[in-house]
Amino acid sequence: MQGKFITFEGIDGCGKSTQLALTSKLLAEKGFDVVVTREPGGTLISEKIREILLSPDNSEMVNECEILLYCAARAQHVREKIIPEVASGKIVLCDRFQEATFGYQGYGRGIPLDVLKTVNTYATGGLNPDLTFIFDLSVETSAVRMAKINKAKDRLEQNSAEFFQKIRDGFLNMAKSSPERIKLINAEQSIEQISEEVINLIQKHIK
Ligand code: TMP
Repeated sequence: MQGKFITFEGIDGCGKSTQLALTSKLLAEKGFDVVVTREPGGTLISEKIREILLSPDNSEMVNECEILLYCAARAQHVREKIIPEVASGKIVLCDRFQEATFGYQGYGRGIPLDVLKTVNTYATGGLNPDLTFIFDLSVETSAVRMAKINKAKDRLEQNSAEFFQKIRDGFLNMAKSSPERIKLINAEQSIEQISEEVINLIQKHIK
C-alpha cells in the first residue's frame, strides 16, 4: 500500500483535532496503518520549539522569529517523521501543516505570501500533502466554542477576532485556488456528518 500524507487545518475551535482522532480510528478499523502527528511538534525537537511558540511568556516574539520557528519545527518533523512514515506505507494524519503558516502568518499577520512560500518550501524540501481538509467555521462560533473549553489561551489564541477573520478568509482562498488537494468542510455540521464526509473523501482519494 502506498503511503499518504493528509493534513487537517482550520481556525481554533473548528473541531479538526476531534475529526483527526475519529478519522484515525475509522481508518485503523478498515485495516490501514495510521500515524497521528501534529504541528508545531511531532518530534522531540519540534515539540520543544512548540513550547517556545505557544508560551504566553513570549509575547515579545517578532514575526520573523515566529515564521522561522514554525518552519524550523516543520523541517525536523518532515525529515525525521513524515517522510519515513509515508515511505513505509503509512497514512500520516497531521494536525496542521503549511496551510496554517499561510493562514496565520500570511493572511493573519500580513507577511507576504511569496516570502512564506520560499521559507516553507525550504523547510519541507517541497513535500506537499496528498490531501488537506480545511474545517470552516465562523469566527463567532469559534469564539463561543473556545469559551466553552475554558482553558488558558496560548500566545496565538490571544489575538483579536479580526486576526481570526483574516485567517478564515485566507483558508477560504486557499481552498478555492487548490480544489483538487484542499477540501473545504463545513465545520458547523454535526461531528458525525463531518466525519462521514472526511472518510468518504479519503476513500475516494485512496482508490
Ligand atoms: P494547536 O495545536 O492548538 O492547533 O496550536 C497551534 C497554534 O499554532 C495555533 O494557534 C495555530 C498556530 N500555527 C501557526 O500560527 N502557524 C503554523 O505554521 C502552525 C503549524 C500553527
